[in-house]
Amino acid sequence: MEDSRIALPIGANLDRFIKSHESHFKYASGELSQLLRDMALASKVINREMNKAGLINLAGNAGSQNAQGDHQQKLDILADIRFMRALTKGGEVCAIISEEQDDMFLTGKNNGKYVIAMDPLDGSSNIDVNVSVGTIFSIYRRKTEVGTTPTAEDCMQKGTEQVAAGYIIYGSSTMFVYTTGNGVNGFTYDLSLGEYFLSHPNLTTPDDGKIYSCNEGNSNSFPDGVTAYLNQCKDNEMTGRYIGSLVADFHRNLLKGGIYLYPPYRKGPNGKLRLMYECNALAFVVEQAGGKATDGKQRIMEIEPTDFHQKCPLYIGSKKMVDRLEECL
Ligand code: AHG
Ligand code: MN
Ligand code: MN
Repeated sequence: MEDSRIALPIGANLDRFIKSHESHFKYASGELSQLLRDMALASKVINREMNKAGLINLAGNAGSQNAQGDHQQKLDILADIRFMRALTKGGEVCAIISEEQDDMFLTGKNNGKYVIAMDPLDGSSNIDVNVSVGTIFSIYRRKTEVGTTPTAEDCMQKGTEQVAAGYIIYGSSTMFVYTTGNGVNGFTYDLSLGEYFLSHPNLTTPDDGKIYSCNEGNSNSFPDGVTAYLNQCKDNEMTGRYIGSLVADFHRNLLKGGIYLYPPYRKGPNGKLRLMYECNALAFVVEQAGGKATDGKQRIMEIEPTDFHQKCPLYIGSKKMVDRLEECL
């Protein structure tokens, strides 16, 4: 009997994969690799703590609000602390912008060549009810000279400047999905071994799909073009799927084919999602997987940032579906 029928081969682990693909990265340095490993390590700690949240009084509201007035969950704050610590300790990152912090977080490691924009915990209001949540991150090279104190210029770069981006989904299994601009690869966490293993090599998204995802509770104040597109989806008997965790909705659509929409609405003339640490990273991933991301007017990654926490409408997913939406708009 063939060996592989007795013992299924295990994919490359994340550390080894990152190392062996270092040469694809245009700056060919081990620092980005180390940074990705730091992200992965912090995500394992968060995964562990999240799994026990209900048992160790970590579920629920923290009683505070972040810069944008969102109510913070205890786990939002915990995830933020875990990533800030891991990335500071690593030394590759000089500054971080996070959903949970009003201003730039300076790590004090001014020799670090990278800056990060991140949503430490996305969909956190879903944790208490056992629904998938995630982490979203974008990595940039700093613009200012290495060794100096980083400035806002380093943290406010267009999405096209990302050198790597990805997300972690804490779901029925935990996955780490990332791109450095040479396609997308997905890794699944094996809890018993404490490692991420390559499970979704060279991930591509279907060109077209059947799923549309949006919060239709806001649909009375959507732009007419979006309403027309949603009617088209219904006329074509497509499937509506909306979890309310961006990472989870995005991940499902990436694998199955679909479109995610967060349009402008009455309470949010620019939608709800944040350009710097939600939209850009997923736009980079989707484009690398063959899909498309727009705010309805331009490619997400070409939007010029003006504020760490700025919002923008987001239409993201299978290319043909986003094309059809754009025709309606
Ligand atoms: P966060 O938990 O980081 O604040 O993000 C919540 C976001 C996103 O995950 C999700 O897609 C969206 O909010 C859901 O918004 P609605 O509840 O308005 O549908
Ligand atoms: Mn979020
Ligand atoms: Mn968040």
